[in-house]
Amino acid sequence: MSTRKKIVAGNWKMNKTFSEGTALAEEITGKLEAGDVTVILGTPYIHLQAVGAIIKDHPNLFLAAQNCHQAAGGAYTGEISPAMLQSLGVQYVILGHSERRKYFGETDASVSEKVSIALAHDLLPIVCVGEELSVREAGKHEALVGEQIENALFDLSPEDFGKIVIAYEPVWAIGTGLTASPDQAQEMHGFIRNTLAAKYGDEIAQATTILYGGSCKPANAQSLFSQPDVDGGLIGGASLKADDFIAITNSY
Ligand code: PGA
Repeated sequence: MSTRKKIVAGNWKMNKTFSEGTALAEEITGKLEAGDVTVILGTPYIHLQAVGAIIKDHPNLFLAAQNCHQAAGGAYTGEISPAMLQSLGVQYVILGHSERRKYFGETDASVSEKVSIALAHDLLPIVCVGEELSVREAGKHEALVGEQIENALFDLSPEDFGKIVIAYEPVWAIGTGLTASPDQAQEMHGFIRNTLAAKYGDEIAQATTILYGGSCKPANAQSLFSQPDVDGGLIGGASLKADDFIAITNSY
């Protein structure tokens, strides 16, 4: 049994009004039993402070933002800095999600900048990588994911790299109902761990939490999480219902 941190992180995306979001956080906080899984709520920015107050006494619940800006501060209308997140007590930040890459021009280079500044503000990055369907069909998924990881993360010191969580999210599985099979997930997670080992050595690679994301739900979570290199999940749609989300956290 690995000693890696097990994580189930919800990514609420642009869902839930303020009152709906606080109600969901209250329901999860009330129903989630204490255990050895780190459970993260990735809420919209405007919910962070209130959700942080709701979950603060639960031993397993933590808070994530879904993005941050790469500058320390200044004239960037509409953006949120890592220092602002830190000032609310946010612990994690999701970076490089495929929707940010697709709709907001995020690149490996901007993800790399965001990772550095997030770490400088004591935020733990959950860095998303994953291939489009066309890339998988062309047999280039390993090459692409390897490149995303190298470009976004391999300038980090071993000490800083040790704080990173990676989320493998095949783009063709996100929000589509198409889940990677447990074998497909394991194959990619194993590849990612080998890529990390080649750069940072076995000890760091073995200690890195690698999450699977993409249509993960109560019905398939257990078969995915039982794979040796799958250390939990990044959950979109199924994180919006407390019972489904909790069922996923109980899937270990
Ligand atoms: P999904 O989203 O679970 O709705 O597929 C996962 C994600 O985008 O993180």
